[in-house]
Amino acid sequence: MTTPALVVEGLYKTYALPDGGRTTAVDTVSFTVPAGGSLGIVGESGSGKTTVARMLVDLVRPDAGTITVNGRERTPGVRGGRPRGPVGRGAERLRRAREIQIVFQDPYVSLDPRLSARQCLHGALRLHGRHQGRAATTRVDELLDQVGLGKREAEARPRGLSGGQCQRLAIARALAVEPEVLVLDEAVAALDVSIQAQILLLLAEIRRETGVALVFVSHDLAVVGHVTDDTLVMRRGRAVETGPTARVLDAPEDPYTRLLLSSVPREGWDPAETVRMRGQLTPEP
Ligand SMILES: Nc1ncnc2c1ncn2[C@@H]1O[C@H](COP(=O)(O)OP(=O)(O)OP(=O)(O)O)[C@@H](O)[C@H]1O
Ligand SMILES: [Mg+2]
Repeated sequence: MTTPALVVEGLYKTYALPDGGRTTAVDTVSFTVPAGGSLGIVGESGSGKTTVARMLVDLVRPDAGTITVNGRERTPGVRGGRPRGPVGRGAERLRRAREIQIVFQDPYVSLDPRLSARQCLHGALRLHGRHQGRAATTRVDELLDQVGLGKREAEARPRGLSGGQCQRLAIARALAVEPEVLVLDEAVAALDVSIQAQILLLLAEIRRETGVALVFVSHDLAVVGHVTDDTLVMRRGRAVETGPTARVLDAPEDPYTRLLLSSVPREGWDPAETVRMRGQLTPEP
């Protein structure tokens, strides 16, 4: 059996509350993404999706749990672990960044406004010591091509690009370091529907071409249905259901998943039915 791209076990995270108490954002969440596979994480606002995504890429420190990429556990570097001096630490940080990359919802915030698309990608290659000189230029052209950015866009800065083009650039920058796992947190949520579709098709193509594993975080079940093999449903920090995406969407087992599906506006949709279903859900502490 091939080693999974990502194994997450017992991930747990609490945050301090202003009154001195703590709130549990992520409660013992576990999942596996096979090599080249894709997992959707869905759930309502506040269910802990972003906290999981941020723990995967070292932006949030888990209280407990392990994250293993291609058989290498990466959690000890986050918790405890004495610093080994600035060089070791920097090199270690970059090595970890090459394992998992993330793309956020708003590319205008995550991209440097002063850099053209081409400069942005050159910068990513330089930072990670990948490709020099002519090889770097070739690789940048390849990345631009891979995400469908043309000659004009290559020389444009983020302000001169549309939201969809910016998101393509953010995806190219993440791919520049050839990560084993690509996490996308609501990466198409801010785009209009036809551009969403283009980006989803692009992601499917990238997965086929590069074999990168995807973790696709979204509140939108329809979007997840298009790009993922498996889906994990989160409610108030917990995983309430997981399984093949088609099965989860067509025959949901958990009442909360059924509620999420019934909340999607469609022909003949009855909002009152959604409100009624919510009333029947077991309350959480
Ligand atoms: N830095 C923080 N400090 C305190 N509480 C936080 C922090 N970040 C998140 N939380 C809380 O943790 C819970 C999970 O938040 P998270 O952002 O992971 O949810 P989400 O599923 O991504 O929601 P959305 O769909 O709105 O993006 C929420 O109750 C949130 O208020
Ligand atoms: Mg979120």
